[in-house]
Amino acid sequence: MTTPAPVAEPPADCPLCPRLVAYRAENARREPDWFNGAAPSFGDTQARLLVAGLAPGRTGANRTGRPFTGDHAGWLLYQTLIETGFARGTYDARPDDGLELLDCMITNAVRCAPPGNKPLPAEEATCRPFLTARLQTLPQLKVIVTLGDVSRRNVLKALGKPASAMAPGHGSEARVGPYVLLNSYHCSRLNTNTGRLTPLMFREIFERARILIEM
Ligand code: URA
Repeated sequence: MTTPAPVAEPPADCPLCPRLVAYRAENARREPDWFNGAAPSFGDTQARLLVAGLAPGRTGANRTGRPFTGDHAGWLLYQTLIETGFARGTYDARPDDGLELLDCMITNAVRCAPPGNKPLPAEEATCRPFLTARLQTLPQLKVIVTLGDVSRRNVLKALGKPASAMAPGHGSEARVGPYVLLNSYHCSRLNTNTGRLTPLMFREIFERARILIEM
């Protein structure tokens, strides 16, 4: 008997988290032309770099269907990926802008938009098997950039480690099994507008990821 392949992407109408399903339905009633579903990971299935975000923004990936596409956080993320050679093309905040990720995939710890951008611990746990499967089905994966604390904790848990296995904070690193985890402050509007995260600080994370990948 063959073991079924791990499922890395939930269906767009994933029924597992009642609160998130209700939020999707509410958004779909108000904005029927939006994507309003579990946003799939985006990028290269042979990637050596995985970028793990928090969850789709209501007017970002929940609207467009592509992670970080259409909300504030996407401008800095995609621009930085282009500048550091992990993306090619022009980011234009639309899933059909032709932007291509190079040796890189972007996913989210939670795949459906949560109210107020805050998933509940139970929703993180329910969605985690998809994150675990995402990691397991990237055969070349070497480096994982976690964006913010929800991502950091969930990636560690998806790898069977406690949250204490890597310190929080910008630039912290840990080797976990075959991977190096590299944590960054999230590129949210709050962090960039307050100067907690500058474009240079963010770029340095991906320059470091490049070095780690080539080691
Ligand atoms: N959009 C995403 O897809 N993920 C985030 O973490 C933030 C915005």
